[in-house]
Parts: sequence; structure tokens; C-alpha cells
Amino acid sequence: MTDTPKTATLTIDGQSYELPIHSPTAGPDVIDIRKLYAQAGVFTYDPGFTSTAACDSTITFIDGDKGELLHRGYPIDQLAGQSHYLEVCYALLYGDLPDAETLEKFEKLVTNHTMIHEQMHNFFRGFRRDAHPMATMVGVVGAMSAFYHDSTDINDEHQREVASIRLIAKMPTIAAMAYKYSIGQPFVYPRNDLDYASNFLNMCFSVPAEEYKVDPVLAKAMDRIFTLHADHEQNASTSTVRLASSSGANPFACIAAGIACLWGPAHGGANQACLEMLKEIGSVDRIPEFIARAKDKNDSYRLMGFGHRVYKNFDPRATVMKESADEVLELLGVEDNPLLQVAMELEKQALADPYFAEKKLFPNVDFYSGIILEAMGFPTSMFTPIFAMARTVGWISQWKEQLDDPQLKIGRPRQLYKGETARDYVAPDKR
Ligand code: SDX
Repeated sequence: MTDTPKTATLTIDGQSYELPIHSPTAGPDVIDIRKLYAQAGVFTYDPGFTSTAACDSTITFIDGDKGELLHRGYPIDQLAGQSHYLEVCYALLYGDLPDAETLEKFEKLVTNHTMIHEQMHNFFRGFRRDAHPMATMVGVVGAMSAFYHDSTDINDEHQREVASIRLIAKMPTIAAMAYKYSIGQPFVYPRNDLDYASNFLNMCFSVPAEEYKVDPVLAKAMDRIFTLHADHEQNASTSTVRLASSSGANPFACIAAGIACLWGPAHGGANQACLEMLKEIGSVDRIPEFIARAKDKNDSYRLMGFGHRVYKNFDPRATVMKESADEVLELLGVEDNPLLQVAMELEKQALADPYFAEKKLFPNVDFYSGIILEAMGFPTSMFTPIFAMARTVGWISQWKEQLDDPQLKIGRPRQLYKGETARDYVAPDKR
């Protein structure tokens, strides 16, 4: 953040207040209101934080109008096309792309921490088999603080590092175990001879009864899905992690809070909701009916996978995801997948409709991801756990960045109070 001489003048009841303006390396200037309440006795009002910068950050930049997404300055389409998830993890965590030797060490470190404490297997068995895997993940990740006491002290740099690696390494194992548990199959241990994405696919789809071979095209698509979901600036779940961390909560509790927030259909739960919507539409001739409902002011119905708080142009991740969808469906010989037909026709009709154009509603990252994941054999209930797994590195990188911020204060928003003013208690027989 580079301070500029610019200031904003706010005048209230004839009294003027000078507010500093800070300029970023990219994106809009910010007006610093930290002293506003002390100086002017007023709060700002911004439910949903549409115009509020809650922190400084150097990790991810989004230009919603241009449809641009940078991780440590690297465009998402270049990372998705030329890098791979663990290399992107390194850049998000430490600030830049690693050299070959450093990357090899990092990948080995993650690989050697993919197993979870054997006692946690019993923890899984306390859930009902039909529990949503997200419920299991929230519970198990939160419980990690009960199993990994030696990496819960946020004031210890080494413990923060250990917790970061443990979470990135163990999330696929936990997600795969949640899946296996939900379908009544035995847990599959991670394997150190497989790369991150192949290991996850093996833990999900292999069974003791026969050899499972990971298809390299599916592994590449899986790795790309992880990369496309890795981080996304100050979205709802990342802001949840930051707020939880501002109280000094341990990293596992903070990530469990992020998982819980991501679960909502307006956020990470949209990939599951989107696929369920495509199934409900069922065929292209029913698309107009659903578009009409989404446009109907009296109907709260929304097209899942459309719209975004920040992107008022294409979500660059959706574009890459669509390419992956084509590759995976062609490999699996289901390029005429009826859901993909519905999705493409829905996208075409929605983008041609003035309502969506005026409100700048474009397909987002969740629009195509579900089609790929379903084609790969995942049930819709596993879509958001996969999003949570991939986003863990973003949550952790933002968590570390906040802890390193000397200005860190506990997050404590105020309110516009519209309730009763002070009044005396009335005895029950006098009411
Ligand atoms: C993710 O923040 C992130 O970065 C999130 C994410 C990440 O990587 O972390 O990108 C991941 O969460 C992607 C978004 C996934 N959610 C969905 O696909 C659910 C469907 N989308 C909507 O719920 C909505 O678009 C949001 C929640 C994503 C964004 O909502 P906003 O910015 O609060 O916009 P809004 O609700 O104020 O809507 C603006 C207008 C409204 O109409 P008016 O009241 O102005 O008349 O657009 C309409 C809305 O009714 N609108 C939609 C719509 N989304 C918004 N109308 C129909 N279908 C939709 N999907």
C-alpha cells in the first residue's frame, strides 16, 4: 500500500474531516476511515461489504470488469495452463514461484504429511453414513486441533508452518475418507508414489478388490480444478477465516469456519446447486421456463452458477473450466452429455437475455465444475468438499498474511441500530 498525498474531505453538519486515501499497486484507491468514528462520531454503513476493503493483501488480485484474476501477479489462465496445483500452492504461501529444487522439497513435504492420525478414523465412525461430506469435513477439520496440539500455537512461526503443510496435505485424505464413509466403502490410505491429484482420485475411487489405474487426463483435469479454486481474494469464506483468526483461534478452527461458510449455495455450495439445477431443467426446451423464474422479481429463484459479487464480466476460471469439461467429456466418450448440452444452451440463452446482460450476470467458476466432477464419477455431495480442499491453500495463505500484519486487530464491525431505546422492565402481571 503506497500512501499518496490524496485525501477525501467529508463534511457533516458544516464540519469537514480529511480522510487519507491510499493507492494500491492495482485496483481502486481506498479511503482510510479508521479514525472516522473517533473524529466524527459516525460509522460507515456497508452490509455485504460491497464497497469495503477489509485488509491489505499481496496474494490475489481480481479485476471484475476485465475478468482478470492474478495469483501473486500470475494470470489464472497461465497458471491453469502451464503450472500445477502444488506449485501454485507454493506461490500463494510464499509469494513467488519456486525453483525446481525448492518445488521438489515442497512437494515431498506435502506428500509425506498426507496420512491422518489413525485415531481420527474412529472420529469418522461417529457420523451417520448419510451425513453430507461437508458436515463431516467441518467436524473432522475442527477436531484436528484435538489431534495436532503441536501446531496450534499461532504465535510460533514453526507451528504456523507445520499447521499450513498439514492442512494442505491432509484435506484430500479427509475429503476422500468422507466420501468413502458415505458410500460404505473402506478408507484408502494415501500413497507417496502418486501426485496430489492422482492420490486424491485413488483414495476416492480405488477399492481393495481390484487394481485402480488413475487416468492421467482425469488427474490433469482434477489438478486444474484444484488450481482454479485455490484462492479468490476476500470472498465470504476467506473473510470468515480472517475474522476467526483475528481472535487468535487455532488454524484448524479457522479453516473449519471457512468450510462451514463455503457450504452455502450462494458461495461454494453453488457447484452442487448448479448441477442439481441442470438436472431439474432436464432438457433444453425447459430452459426458457427457468430463465423466466430467475428474472421474476417475485420469485427468489436464481440461476445457480451465474453472477458474482466481483466479476461483472466473465469469470476467467469459468472459461478454463469449460475447456476442461470438453476434454474430460470427450475422453469419457460423453461429449454429448445431456447436462453439458443444457449448460451450454442455458449459457447461450442467458447471455442473450437483456436481464442478464444489464445485471452483468455471467457464468462463474461453479457453472462448469459440476459437469466435470459428475462425469468423473463424483456425487454432487462431493462437489463442495472438493472446492473446500482446493481453497484450503488460499485460506491458509490469507490466514498467515493476516497473522504477519503488525496492524492486526480483532475484527469487530459495528451496526446501524434500529431497535428499542432504553425502557424499564415490566412485571409479567402488568404486561
Ligand atoms: C462463488 O466471492 C467470491 O469470490 C466467491 C467465489 C470464490 O471463488 O470464492 O467466486 C465462489 O461463490 C461463486 C458464486 C457462486 N454462487 C452462485 O452461483 C449462486 C447464484 N449467484 C447469486 O446468488 C449471486 O450472483 C451472488 C451471490 C453470487 C452474488 O450476489 P450479489 O453480488 O450480492 O448480487 P445481488 O444478489 O445483489 O444481485 C444483483 C442483482 C439482483 O437483482 P436486483 O435485486 O438488482 O433486481 O442480480 C440478480 C439479483 O436478483 N442476480 C441474479 C443472480 N445473481 C444475481 N438473478 C438471477 N440469477 C442469478 N444467479
